[in-house]
Amino acid sequence: MRLLIVGFGFIGRELVKALRDKMSFLRSIDRDFKVVGIVDSKGYLYNGKGIDIDDLNKITRLSEHRDYKLGGTALDLLGQNLCDIMVEATPTNIKDGEPGLTHIRLALSRGIHVITPNKGPLVLAFRELMNLAERNECALLYEGAVAGAIPVFSLVRECLQGDKIVRLSGILNGTTNYILSRMFFEEISFEIALKEAQEKGIAERDPSYDIDGIDAACKLVILANALMGREARLNDVRIVGIRGITQEAISLAKRANYAIKLIGTIDRGLEVAPKLVPINHPICVHGTLNAIHIETDLAREITLVGYGAGKETISAILNDLITVLRKRGMSKFSSPKIV
Ligand SMILES: NC(=O)c1ccc[n+]([C@@H]2O[C@H](COP(=O)([O-])OP(=O)(O)OC[C@H]3O[C@@H](n4cnc5c(N)ncnc54)[C@H](OP(=O)(O)O)[C@@H]3O)[C@@H](O)[C@H]2O)c1
Repeated sequence: MRLLIVGFGFIGRELVKALRDKMSFLRSIDRDFKVVGIVDSKGYLYNGKGIDIDDLNKITRLSEHRDYKLGGTALDLLGQNLCDIMVEATPTNIKDGEPGLTHIRLALSRGIHVITPNKGPLVLAFRELMNLAERNECALLYEGAVAGAIPVFSLVRECLQGDKIVRLSGILNGTTNYILSRMFFEEISFEIALKEAQEKGIAERDPSYDIDGIDAACKLVILANALMGREARLNDVRIVGIRGITQEAISLAKRANYAIKLIGTIDRGLEVAPKLVPINHPICVHGTLNAIHIETDLAREITLVGYGAGKETISAILNDLITVLRKRGMSKFSSPKIV
């Protein structure tokens, strides 16, 4: 199988490193597996015989590579059917999903399998994209888009095939969890904890997307649509962020054996809001950890805990890639069944 990587930022680079380390394992699954193209915002590398990814170790920008084609785009490569799988890792854009939405639509319409950690297209067009994948008998996998390395979609797809998910709640944003954890353990103010998170690179210079709950709400929409058959949109989520959380509130909660956590909940409706969580509840995890608590009709309760972003996300992307490589002989990829 021929892989195209669209986006050579943090995720693209880390993926290439992992592919380099695991190439012999990947070739034991598919002996013809190779990376044929890598695209950034200004051009691409393409080699139908396979790019020597060891070479990429030596450069900091894709454009430094001798074979870089300035001005070429992902659409050029997708339009010529030069790949079988695309990893789409361009920036998340929740306004119109671009450029990822156009890349994913084109790939799926041509029967090219898509793996993406990019939330934008999934938040805006989940059902349309899943239908497109089904019609064209290819896969759309997105494990890395929600809660990074936590394998929630794979778990439900593979291990809870007969269960109906009746409720889901969780900590879906590592930045806010880090801030609230520092306030809980160090008894510092929200402002100081935020500044510290920004200095450590855990929070963005403009932190509003995280601290106002928008990132967690996007993930909740994807979870609701993928796992519970909803037709949710971002506007359907009632969102309260963590700007108003004071040290006094955290201390008061702590004395009663509760922590304040930013919790996303899918029940009858969708909500992201700070909640009191008993400190011995399995989703009461700290630092940048994420947690997802699933309630089903048969298994009753399952909690998953893990890292929600960073290098660990590559675990999810690689697992999706291996899923596609292993199923290449199968003509049809079915979407998760909603019981
Ligand atoms: N970083 C994480 O920990 C993490 C975790 C989970 C999910 N994600 C998601 O994964 C995606 C990638 O994240 P990242 O951290 O790798 O972002 P990033 O470092 O900003 O990299 C984005 C890459 O996309 C490229 N790009 C932008 N527009 C493009 C276009 N039209 N065609 C081709 N390439 C284009 C950029 O090109 P230039 O290099 O030319 O600017 C850059 O290489 C995002 O959707 C993000 O939300 C990230």
